[in-house]
Amino acid sequence: MARKFFVGGNWKCVCQHPSEPPSSPNGTLDEVKKIVSILNEAEVPPEDVVEVVVSPPFVFLPLVKSLLRSDFSVAAQNCWVRRGGAFTGEISAEMLINSNIPWVIVGHSERRLLLNESNEFVGDKVAYALLQGLKVIACVGETLEQRESGSTMNVVAAQTKAIADRVSHWENVVLAYEPVWAIGTGKVATPAQAQEVHSELRKWLHDNVGPEVAASVRIIYGGSVNGANCEEQAAQPDVDGFLVGGASLKPEFIDIIKSAT
Ligand code: G3P
Repeated sequence: MARKFFVGGNWKCVCQHPSEPPSSPNGTLDEVKKIVSILNEAEVPPEDVVEVVVSPPFVFLPLVKSLLRSDFSVAAQNCWVRRGGAFTGEISAEMLINSNIPWVIVGHSERRLLLNESNEFVGDKVAYALLQGLKVIACVGETLEQRESGSTMNVVAAQTKAIADRVSHWENVVLAYEPVWAIGTGKVATPAQAQEVHSELRKWLHDNVGPEVAASVRIIYGGSVNGANCEEQAAQPDVDGFLVGGASLKPEFIDIIKSAT
């Protein structure tokens, strides 16, 4: 089954380290407008070849949605997990739907690790977001310690199981394999490493969810993807696209979109 290539851009909040010289904080209105204008002028493959979704911080979401070319879409970087109750600072799935934001990233390792989002919590969040009509980029991935101990597949299978136990329809799910040790480090997984985990994840889906879902779900790679390494990754049979951080804020993001196979 042909799976449409998917390229996500995670414009995550990056705060300068106190030891770094003060510079413009990542994500100013001017920077965001500049990125959007570069994207709007880019020549890229048509929508039936590659699906592009950029994910600005919440404060810029309506602006980016209003300025962005119509063949690209937008995602939030998170949403709350359930209905009912008061949760200062959270953004609900219903608010995103009401703002015509179609996608949401759920379970990014930075939230799993820094905010202690458990596999079950992430699974609940994926299920609730889908129930409210959102499309979900669900992130899984192991730490360097877990990889070095040989438990990569145990970890990502457990993360995926926590989603599969709560989700009955997968047509609006994109699975993002993002090894924690590759995020923001410049240490991109080799194409063989990415292909190995992607194919194992697809086998897990085949055995535990079903052959149709396994064949149709897009499994994308994230972790130090850039204009130089994207082609070789994109050529892997089970790599259906990318979730890009740092490089999505640069013109090379267009090269990554063009790597669509
Ligand atoms: O969600 C994608 C992001 O975590 C990857 O970051 O900077 O390694 O491409 P980066």
